[in-house]
Amino acid sequence: MLKLLVLFLCCSTISSKPGHLDDRVMHPHPRRKPSEGENDQELTAEYWNEIGLNTLKNYLEEKLNTNIAKNVIIFMGDGMSVPTLAATRVYMGNENAQLSFEKFPHTAVSKTYCVNYQVPDSACTATAYLGGVKVNLGTVGVTASVQWEDCQGMTNTSNHVQSIAQWAQFKGKSTGLVTTARVTHASPAGVFGHSAQREWETDTDIINAKQDPEVCTDLATQLVTEEVGRNLNVIMGGGRYAFLPSGTKGEEEDDGYRSDGVNLIEKWKTLKEGEKAQYIWNREQLLGLEDTDYVLGLFESDHCPFNLERDQQLDPSLTEMTEAAIKILSKNTQGYFLFVEGARIDMGHHEAMVHLALDETVEFSKAVERAVNLTSEEDTLIVVTSDHAHTMSLGGYPERGNDIFGIAGAASDSLPFATINYANGPGYEPPESDGSRNDISKDDLGEIEHRFPGGVPLDSETHGGDDVLVFARGPWAHLFRGVMEENVIPHIMGYASCIRKDGVSACEKETDSNAVYIHTVALVSILLVLVHGLV
Ligand SMILES: *[C@@H]1O[C@H](CO)[C@@H](O)[C@H](O)[C@H]1NC(C)=O
Ligand SMILES: *[C@@H]1O[C@H](CO)[C@@H](O)[C@H](O)[C@H]1NC(C)=O
Ligand SMILES: [Zn+2]
Repeated sequence: MLKLLVLFLCCSTISSKPGHLDDRVMHPHPRRKPSEGENDQELTAEYWNEIGLNTLKNYLEEKLNTNIAKNVIIFMGDGMSVPTLAATRVYMGNENAQLSFEKFPHTAVSKTYCVNYQVPDSACTATAYLGGVKVNLGTVGVTASVQWEDCQGMTNTSNHVQSIAQWAQFKGKSTGLVTTARVTHASPAGVFGHSAQREWETDTDIINAKQDPEVCTDLATQLVTEEVGRNLNVIMGGGRYAFLPSGTKGEEEDDGYRSDGVNLIEKWKTLKEGEKAQYIWNREQLLGLEDTDYVLGLFESDHCPFNLERDQQLDPSLTEMTEAAIKILSKNTQGYFLFVEGARIDMGHHEAMVHLALDETVEFSKAVERAVNLTSEEDTLIVVTSDHAHTMSLGGYPERGNDIFGIAGAASDSLPFATINYANGPGYEPPESDGSRNDISKDDLGEIEHRFPGGVPLDSETHGGDDVLVFARGPWAHLFRGVMEENVIPHIMGYASCIRKDGVSACEKETDSNAVYIHTVALVSILLVLVHGLV
């Protein structure tokens, strides 16, 4: 209450000078006293100079890691734009907070457009950061010569894009995917799938699109029966409905959605007969896993719940799934490839529910931290990135320590505006009958499903076309640098782990330097013999 009062006092001066935002920069509000004096040290030059010096020293001391990446883990925060990161730090309690992966030593900027669209979706981008090839919007695992919904085109294997999971399997590594979306959703489909339409997750979806599921295979069937999917050691996430025939119930009284009558969970079990394989559907089973080589974990009929709305007993967290996956995959002495998706950052944004999106980002950061704790920088390359941005912005000169879900100030119409705004989306409010803007001080901005303002009315807020970041740690992480095309990511991961199909690899380099070493030793030996002979 007091805060609001202060706000309106201060803002009445601003609103009398509409359009003079620069005044605000030059004459900022008296600084709000930080709670518990936590930022008082920031008043001194020493504090900032020490941060500067320590960072510099760390950079200078850093040694490049040119080991071979036995293991590669890619974490993908769906829709985790750069402003999402900044907003999440405030949500975590302080603008100077760090997400776990912000401590990684190397970063790059990733350009996310796809072949035919400026602003991409999760299917074309998954093909880029997992398959190394940019393709058309809404398609996954097929080149851009396949048009969206071209059922025939997607069956032509010469148009298929192989993912890094396939390269890894070819070299005898274990492979897995973990997501909080349906396991057949666009991003995980980039690991195993080839589809001209990302929404063809079941045969029913294909029939609804007036195509023949006998011609083009749905993604759930591909996941269980085809080349890459059937070899995955770990499949975890939501999306049980795509595996069950309609009329068949899942463990949570959920309905199947398949028309072909095939129970793909049973099919998966049959295909894994004779192996140490387990199908699981709840958290307790996940935490109790022992000595397993293959796991199919379908924890929800549809997407997994938002972390904030999860049943803590029944539904595993992304962190718990990640840990279980790493434990299974680590059994392979040849190493592994793992894809982990924090899928619902994106879905929070689409709903304009910032609170949910930011909380998903915190959970994603925890999952990365758990992976860091469970692996070694010596032999494991961890890459953290996002597929695309969103239209969320963070602005308006809120004071340090201001609630990220709070009000930034007053606009030129004297009404308050939020720090967080979307360029478009379901948070749009039409003008009041007198033409005035919605007064957001009447809204419960702290409510976890509150929709933040959007400038243009849309049922679903859109992705953004801006660049996203790549964070890397481990062997060859330093190759992630500069401003790169998104599709370059797997080319580097494949190099570091020596699994590229063209043989261009860190191991080739190793052989080269070995050869130089051997030649040098040979030369020195010959010289020694000669010298000895002369004496
Ligand atoms: C398959 O795709 C390749 C490459 O795009 C093309 O040359 C070939 O004609 C296609 N085959 C069929 C049967 O359409
Ligand atoms: C990672 O390890 C550190 C140090 O042991 C611990 O404090 C932290 O809680 C761990 N984080 C996770 C997410 O497991
Ligand atoms: Zn999205």
